[in-house]
Amino acid sequence: MCCSSWSLFLPLLLLVVPISCFPPCVSSSIGSYHVNKNKNNQAPPNNMDPSEAETLFNIMDSMSSDHTWRISFPNPCNSASSWPGIECKPGQNDKLLHVSRLDFGSPPNPSCKTTATFPSQVFTLPYLQSLFFFHCFTQTKTNISLPLLSHPSNASSLQQLSLRSNPALVGPIPSQISSLHSLQILTLSQNRLAGRIPVQIFSLNSLVHLDLSYNLLTGPIPPQLGSLRNLVGLDLSYNSLSGSIPDTIGQMGLLQKFDLSSNFLVGNIPDSIEKLNSLVFMALSSNRLGGKFPQGLAKLQSLQYFIMDDNPMFIPLPEEFGKLMKLQELRVANSGYSGTIPTSFSHLTNLSTLSLQNNRLTGEIPEGFGSLSHIYHLNLSRNMLAGIVPFNSIFLKRLGRNLDLSANPGLCLSPSEAYGVKIGVNVCGTNRTVSTIQPFNKSEAPSGLCKSLFLLCFILCTSVLALHHISFSA
Ligand SMILES: *[C@@H]1O[C@H](CO)[C@@H](O)[C@H](O)[C@H]1NC(C)=O
Ligand SMILES: *[C@@H]1O[C@H](CO)[C@@H](O)[C@H](O)[C@H]1NC(C)=O
Ligand SMILES: *[C@@H]1O[C@H](CO)[C@@H](O)[C@H](O)[C@H]1NC(C)=O
Ligand SMILES: *[C@@H]1O[C@H](CO)[C@@H](O)[C@H](O)[C@H]1NC(C)=O
Ligand SMILES: *[C@@H]1O[C@H](CO)[C@@H](O)[C@H](O)[C@H]1NC(C)=O
Ligand SMILES: *[C@@H]1O[C@H](CO)[C@@H](O)[C@H](O)[C@H]1NC(C)=O
Repeated sequence: MCCSSWSLFLPLLLLVVPISCFPPCVSSSIGSYHVNKNKNNQAPPNNMDPSEAETLFNIMDSMSSDHTWRISFPNPCNSASSWPGIECKPGQNDKLLHVSRLDFGSPPNPSCKTTATFPSQVFTLPYLQSLFFFHCFTQTKTNISLPLLSHPSNASSLQQLSLRSNPALVGPIPSQISSLHSLQILTLSQNRLAGRIPVQIFSLNSLVHLDLSYNLLTGPIPPQLGSLRNLVGLDLSYNSLSGSIPDTIGQMGLLQKFDLSSNFLVGNIPDSIEKLNSLVFMALSSNRLGGKFPQGLAKLQSLQYFIMDDNPMFIPLPEEFGKLMKLQELRVANSGYSGTIPTSFSHLTNLSTLSLQNNRLTGEIPEGFGSLSHIYHLNLSRNMLAGIVPFNSIFLKRLGRNLDLSANPGLCLSPSEAYGVKIGVNVCGTNRTVSTIQPFNKSEAPSGLCKSLFLLCFILCTSVLALHHISFSA
């Protein structure tokens, strides 16, 4: 469990890095503005709009008791006398400095009081472009709230809003979030947000990344999703969303990554998905998806990760996977797949992980698997595969313990390859198992320590016996 979730995270991390640098790149457009140090060594004037400064200090006082903000930082936009977690920019039409970024929660940024609640006033800072609250609301339950803006344009500068890991952030995602219409990155991950995804969120048509993962969201994924034509990354994983995947997903032509894992989604992957020709990463594990694969699956020629374990599919594995030449990970375990493993899978030269365990696959392991030069994790355990394992001893040694063929009673290893390898498969023509590693149940599996102790004990005992023998015969 632990290992498999890590190996799932790894490609995620790898993906997040390049994707976050696709244009438009918000973070690079927001640089901190550094005011030159005053040559006469005098305190520079507080060149902020007084009402903006007042709003800022009210927010700081309500959020954090790290400092007496007004006294410690009378010129918060002056880089020589500001705190980490604030950035300012000069106005285009005035000679003032304006708060463009505020960051709370993670050191060295200001820490949040245990009594802090969501400061809706932040949305009245007219030049704010980025706002971060990380592990900030942890004690006092609070909702996301937006002020009723008399001039909606006041809030329109915000490009990035990130509220992450706030266990006390509860309640719904407010529909008024749609008034933040410059938003490009909206991250509301790992909070306790509940209720439905408001359709109004899909009018934020500048959105490039939308992450609502790890919350308590319910209800369907609204079909209006498709109107986010600039979306590159979508993550709705680890919620309680139900219904089917909207067909309109195919309208998001720039989509590179989507993750809908661990929800209660039903139905099949919509056919429209074939239009997503930039798609690199697709994760749908742990849902209730079934039925069939889209006709045009093979059109997803950018796809590198297809992760769809734990769904009640109960169909044969589609041949078309073998045409997705960029695939690096294909995970479709625990899903009731039947029939043989398509030989086309042997064409996936860049495949590094193939997880087919715990299905009902029959027939032989395709001959060509032995020449998958990038493969390093291959799990075919708990199927009904049969025949001679088509791997030579070099392949077997290269994969080592990342190869799992156990619990396929019909498989056997040719005696010429079996020497010194341990994969839990019988040698053909004998009842001798080549392995000390049996297909253990997880809980029964001996830990590394037990095995080392056993080995140590074995060595000690045999040496004692040998000594015993020597001393007696002497
Ligand atoms: C919106 O901006 C106008 C002028 O730009 C200002 O008078 C008004 O107070 C602002 N409203 C809010 C809620 O900040
Ligand atoms: C959050 O909002 C909901 C509905 O809008 C409300 O019922 C609830 O009392 C609010 N909770 C807090 C802690 O503000
Ligand atoms: C396989 O991966 C390499 C390096 O990541 C890449 O250059 C190559 O184009 C890939 N091959 C295919 C068929 O996508
Ligand atoms: C293969 O899958 C089985 C069943 O899910 C799991 O117990 C085992 O640890 C996996 N083996 C490897 C090498 O990942
Ligand atoms: C393997 O074991 C079964 C029963 O345990 C026996 O009937 C069979 O003859 C054995 N086969 C060989 C090749 O030893
Ligand atoms: C695994 O454990 C279950 C329940 O403890 C048992 O019924 C089953 O036979 C075991 N399987 C193997 C392969 O040992």
